[in-house]
Amino acid sequence: MAEQILIIDDEKNYLLILDALLSDKGWNVTALSDPETALDFLEESEVDVVITDMKMPKLSGRQVLEHVRRNYPHIPVLIMTAFGSIEAAVEAMKIGAFDYIAKPFSNDELILSVTKAMQFASTQRQNRILRETLVERYGRHNIIGRSRTMHRVLEMIDRAAPSKSTVLITGESGTGKELVARAIHFSSPRKDGPFISVNCMAFNPGVLESELFGHEKGSFTGAVARKRGRFELAHGGTLFLDEIGELSHDLQIKLLRVIQERRFERVGGVEPIEVDIRVVAATNKDLQAAVADGSFREDLFYRLNVVRIELPPLRERREDVPLLAAHFLDKYATENQKPIKGFSPESIDYLSAFDWPGNVRQLENVVERCVVLSDTETIGVEDLPPEIRDEETQYKSAVDLLPATINLSETLEKIEAALVRRALVRSNFVQVKAAESLGVSKSLLQYKLKKYGLSVP
Ligand SMILES: Nc1ncnc2c1ncn2[C@@H]1O[C@H](COP(=O)(O)OP(=O)(O)OP(=O)(O)O)[C@@H](O)[C@H]1O
Ligand SMILES: [Mg+2]
Repeated sequence: MAEQILIIDDEKNYLLILDALLSDKGWNVTALSDPETALDFLEESEVDVVITDMKMPKLSGRQVLEHVRRNYPHIPVLIMTAFGSIEAAVEAMKIGAFDYIAKPFSNDELILSVTKAMQFASTQRQNRILRETLVERYGRHNIIGRSRTMHRVLEMIDRAAPSKSTVLITGESGTGKELVARAIHFSSPRKDGPFISVNCMAFNPGVLESELFGHEKGSFTGAVARKRGRFELAHGGTLFLDEIGELSHDLQIKLLRVIQERRFERVGGVEPIEVDIRVVAATNKDLQAAVADGSFREDLFYRLNVVRIELPPLRERREDVPLLAAHFLDKYATENQKPIKGFSPESIDYLSAFDWPGNVRQLENVVERCVVLSDTETIGVEDLPPEIRDEETQYKSAVDLLPATINLSETLEKIEAALVRRALVRSNFVQVKAAESLGVSKSLLQYKLKKYGLSVP
């Protein structure tokens, strides 16, 4: 579809000339002499660029400009002014015109100006699409979980998002802290502003300070130019301070001041800089314990802890495991173009029973590995990595096979007898080897053999 230009001018001659000239360049032109009709047209159509005359009866160009700025801020407006009326042009630029065209105009100048406005409109459009995909990708609907605790987390996000309050997200590594931070930003009124993230552990304290606050040229060796810090870059948006528990004492004091006053100076600078930001912080440390042992300032802790979102470890919301596993399977099967349909019920049992010390990130990695390595339609227990099939989980599944009502000591003896027999068979009835594989002495093994009436050929 060709780009759409709307021209508004009460002088019909000009309309005809402009229409012919711009249509000739392949643009779709709508030329209207009545400004009010033009505003209706704007309402109903997708217009990319507006060109309006300044002096018109009914509505002035200035009013048209103001209307477009207010209702369609993404549409650039070109203002046509009578030759010599520089004040009008300056005035128009002040209230947000993209450019002005002095009448009479040269064709080349006009086309250049319109081309620039078109490029601007197209960048605006692309940015808008990009922002929409960002919201799509990072919105709260990407947070999977039906457990009660995750429902509560989602509720907290909804409640916190509209405000400017500082949020502290806590939880073990891989529980989704960054995911939640992004969801807060992209569900907030600041979603069109920047989301700037800083990992406080990734820099040494000196570097972190200038990363956060920026520096003036020459403020230290190597500061060859002025640099804006992340606090400045986050203006109008959200600043995500990850691993906040790692902040040095010195920086804790500085951060406290910015959060209180929304104002700071660049390193080596004297001029205060004011910013409009929302701070979201995250940590996998126990900050309260850090406050108690003096390594984290209490006043900063309370400033950060206005809204607290606690992400439970995955092992405390096992009902989310099948859902997450299916979600990641979908993601990686699509990415790797593999026709995998799902997990076998047994493998889901294994996944749900596992303790997930690395939480959701570990589950995601395991599923990705399964998808990449598997060449079957269904992922079975044999496709799971050994750490998940082993140990605790295996005992648990072995136990699941036993009847619900048992006699504990009798059952344990039966299991012991079976294990001793298995060890003997596996070590070709070499008793020393069998004892070793069971982690017992040879004499204890011989005692058990006698007890359970097992004979060695
Ligand atoms: N509830 C969830 N739904 C979907 N994906 C999730 C969920 N929780 C975490 N993830 C995914 O798990 C991975 C780890 O999450 P994230 O990076 O947010 O964790 P984190 O708590 O910041 O970890 P760390 O403390 O190690 O930085 C990401 O790929 C994220 O998309
Ligand atoms: Mg993280």
